[in-house]
Amino acid sequence: MSRIANAALRAKLMSARDAAALVENGMTLGLSGFTGSGYPKAVPLALAERIEAAHAAGQPFRVKVWTGASTGPELDGALAKADGIEFRLPYNSDPIAREKINRGEMNYFDMHLSQVAPMAWQGFLGPLDVAVVEVSGIRADGSLIPSSSIGNNKTWLDRAAKVILEVNRWQSPELEGMHDIYYGTALPPNRVPIPLTRPHDRIGEAYLRCDPAKIVAIVETDAPDRNLPYAAPDATAGAIAGHLIEFFRHEVAKGRLPPSLLPLQSGVGNITNAVLSGLLDAPFSNLTSFTEVIQDGMIDLIDAGKLLLASATAFSVSPQAAEKLNADMARYRDRMILRPQEISNHPELVRRLGCVAMNGLIEADIYGNVNSTHIMGSRIQNGIGGSGDFARNAFISIFMTPSTAKGGAISAIVPQASHVDHIAQDVQVVVTEQGLADLRGLSPKQRAATIIANCAHPDYRPALEDYVRRARTGSYGQQSPSLPGEALSWHQRFMDTGDMRA
Ligand code: COA
Repeated sequence: MSRIANAALRAKLMSARDAAALVENGMTLGLSGFTGSGYPKAVPLALAERIEAAHAAGQPFRVKVWTGASTGPELDGALAKADGIEFRLPYNSDPIAREKINRGEMNYFDMHLSQVAPMAWQGFLGPLDVAVVEVSGIRADGSLIPSSSIGNNKTWLDRAAKVILEVNRWQSPELEGMHDIYYGTALPPNRVPIPLTRPHDRIGEAYLRCDPAKIVAIVETDAPDRNLPYAAPDATAGAIAGHLIEFFRHEVAKGRLPPSLLPLQSGVGNITNAVLSGLLDAPFSNLTSFTEVIQDGMIDLIDAGKLLLASATAFSVSPQAAEKLNADMARYRDRMILRPQEISNHPELVRRLGCVAMNGLIEADIYGNVNSTHIMGSRIQNGIGGSGDFARNAFISIFMTPSTAKGGAISAIVPQASHVDHIAQDVQVVVTEQGLADLRGLSPKQRAATIIANCAHPDYRPALEDYVRRARTGSYGQQSPSLPGEALSWHQRFMDTGDMRA
């Protein structure tokens, strides 16, 4: 059965190749897609073929690509391989595109995900020529049933001169009704408060609007999202989850967090997913989440009756979880809301709801400045994603990582971060498998002592303590033995007596 219930729009059905022929060299494309879900799967592939053919004939052909966040190999991978992307924003995890960016062959604008839509409206990014958006269906009145991510689709559909839709039969028809598209955002001075006070509030519409006159092509597809398996939690992930859950228990016992905690935000990656799994056996219930992506761990928490509601902008699930979701979407629909990323990550809402933000990192320095994006300070890994949207505005901002990278050869805790995405003021808790550093209310000296003692791997602690000792005595560069420094003794006194004086 066709998923296109509007006869006039059904007349615009065509092949992906014909639709891709509507894109010209130099155009700016606004594509759907967020962390591997809901991205167009046929038109970008056909466009990549066209670009390759143009290059083979000695003709220039490159486009500017705006998305929600990362997409899949059929989009970023194919276009990057064809050397067809001149400029890309805002978050990328595709390995081919990453190489091109790091070789200086592709311009990349890494930005906070909540700011993409407002900045597109500001206009300095230039006009948007074509939106290519995956939907799961088109209703008789022409409104669009969104797919497994919303991302910036509302903005692309509003801003683009022309629209190409991919209607993907693989997506569950029961997605209809899960989405909440808020149409009340504006540029200053016309902004008003966003009327969302609880994660489960619905403040918009279940469908995307699009002027039918702008729709130039519709392509039908039947293709899965890029769903990748999560690694089973290993000892390191388990230890990190354990420290964090202990911290939550402590905060609940002190009355600083309610027993249902506060709306959880969980960043990308295996470690954050492992923490969600750890919550399955933890003594917290009636949890909610106000986050960017719904991961496997959240689905397990919903199944266990622990998580009442997950609000996000996209799914980021394994193939097994996708199958489970698709088979039972009508039930999950009552427990999930997908919103535009402008809303799922909105600083006003993160601050109002008091989210507990939990994100991964590449390295943290001893003061708690966090590098989320650049390996060795120069090679971009993915991008800042939504980590900044949440970290600065969260009730508690937590960052987590194994204490070492590359099989133990590199310490994730360093004297000075080679690149800083999150300044110390935006980082309240750092967790590794070694332990947890609660940095709230501590001075830089105290933070250094706590992070070294609690989070650094024992192999690297003496060197870090030595660094602190020499920094404090001004004896950089002099030969000095790696003795336990004042940092550690301060920390031990603090733990024994609670005396925070340095
Ligand atoms: N030095 C050198 N390399 C390092 C490193 C360090 N300190 N820390 C990590 N790496 C390398 C890893 O070895 C790995 O390399 P490989 O791909 O060659 O194997 C790579 O960086 C990724 O590390 P990994 O441990 O697999 O990452 P992850 O899946 O746990 O993700 C981030 C960690 C920081 C990359 C990820 O959380 C991220 O992209 N964060 C920014 C966006 C974000 O937070 N989004 C969520 C907000 S809602």
